[in-house]
Order: sequence, then C-alpha cells, then structure tokens
Amino acid sequence: MSKVILATAAALLTSLSAYAADGPSYLLPAMKDIVAPQAAVIWDVGNRGIDDDGKPDASKLTAQDWDTLGKAATAMQQAASGLAEARQILVGPPGTKLENEGAPGVFTAHQVQGFIDHDPAGFSKHARALTDISQTLISAAATKDAKKLADASGELDQVCEACHTKFWYPQ
Ligand code: HEC
Repeated sequence: MSKVILATAAALLTSLSAYAADGPSYLLPAMKDIVAPQAAVIWDVGNRGIDDDGKPDASKLTAQDWDTLGKAATAMQQAASGLAEARQILVGPPGTKLENEGAPGVFTAHQVQGFIDHDPAGFSKHARALTDISQTLISAAATKDAKKLADASGELDQVCEACHTKFWYPQ
C-alpha cells in the first residue's frame, strides 16, 4: 500500500517538474518574491562591506554575512536562470495586473507582455546577465572578497535597470 502511494507521489512529482520545465515562467512573482527581496539582502551586505571612505573592507563583514550573501545570490541565480531558459515568459497568470497599471506613464501587464513577446531573445539576454552577476556574487561570498562584492553589488543595480528600461518602462 505505502509503496503504491510512494510510486504515485513520485510520478506526480515527475510530472510537476516536467510541467515547470515546459510551461511558461511567470515574471511578476519571480521579481516580487525572489529577485527584489534577494537583491535587497545583497545590497544590505554590500553596503555594510565598505568603510567610511567607501572602500571595500572585509573586516566589516562576519561569517554569517558572507553566508547570507551566498544564499541570497544563489536564490537570485536560480530565478534568473529560470527566466533566461524559459520557453515562454508570461508576466503572470491570466488576469495579472501590475501595480498602479493604467495610471499615467505606467504600462499595463498586457503592454509589458507585448514588449517581451516582441524581443524574447533580448529578454533572455538580460536574464542571463542577472544569472552571471549572481554567479560573481556567489564567488565573492565563497572567497569572502569584499572588493568583488562591492563591484558586483554596484553593477547589479545596472543589470536590473537595463532590463527594466527596455521591458517595463521603455521611453
Ligand atoms: C530580464 C529582465 C529583468 C531583470 C534583469 C530584472 N527585472 Fe525586475 N522586472 C522586469 C519586468 C519586465 C518587470 C515589470 C513586469 C513585472 O512587474 O513583472 C519587472 C518588475 C520588477 C518589480 C516590480 C514587481 C511588482 O511588485 O510589481 C521589482 C520590484 C523588480 N522588477 C525588481 C528587480 C530588481 C531589484 C532587479 C535586479 C536585481 C530586477 N528586477 C531585474 C524585468 C527584469
């Protein structure tokens, strides 16, 4: 009996992960629940890893900080590579709305979807850039390299911004 249940559970898990690999990837939850909060953690550690003159200073960071950084960068990298490799990017499930959408100058989920559908390869390239910078942050954490952390945490901002100005609020 328990063998049957286990086998069923295993089959279900297999079909769920197959679905995740083949189905669309949802962008809004990836941004809101993973990328944005993990970036906040990374910037927090990054800001504390510089001295009063703005120079990278590893003595300001504890083993716990480096560990936190590594976990945040790993989570961000997983989300980013999921977006980079997705067969299809959807802003969200049908009916998804962006915050303040329809307000002056704020594009709707439908419009953002149009920007992405117009240039999926470009979107994927930006998601790949986020994957790469996450890797640099993972390696900064592994080697406790404050200079690498400072550089990458500054660059991260530009990686976010480059994609946003193209696909979220162009013009
Ligand atoms: C590959 C492109 C891409 C990259 C890279 C990217 N974003 Fe986004 N992001 C978007 C798009 C497109 C939207 C607008 C649609 C949406 O909200 O999902 C968005 C929306 C958001 C939102 C609004 C979510 C909400 O609650 O409405 C936040 C916050 C955000 N991004 C943070 C970030 C941060 C921080 C980074 C960098 C660490 C980043 N993004 C990197 C494409 C990207």
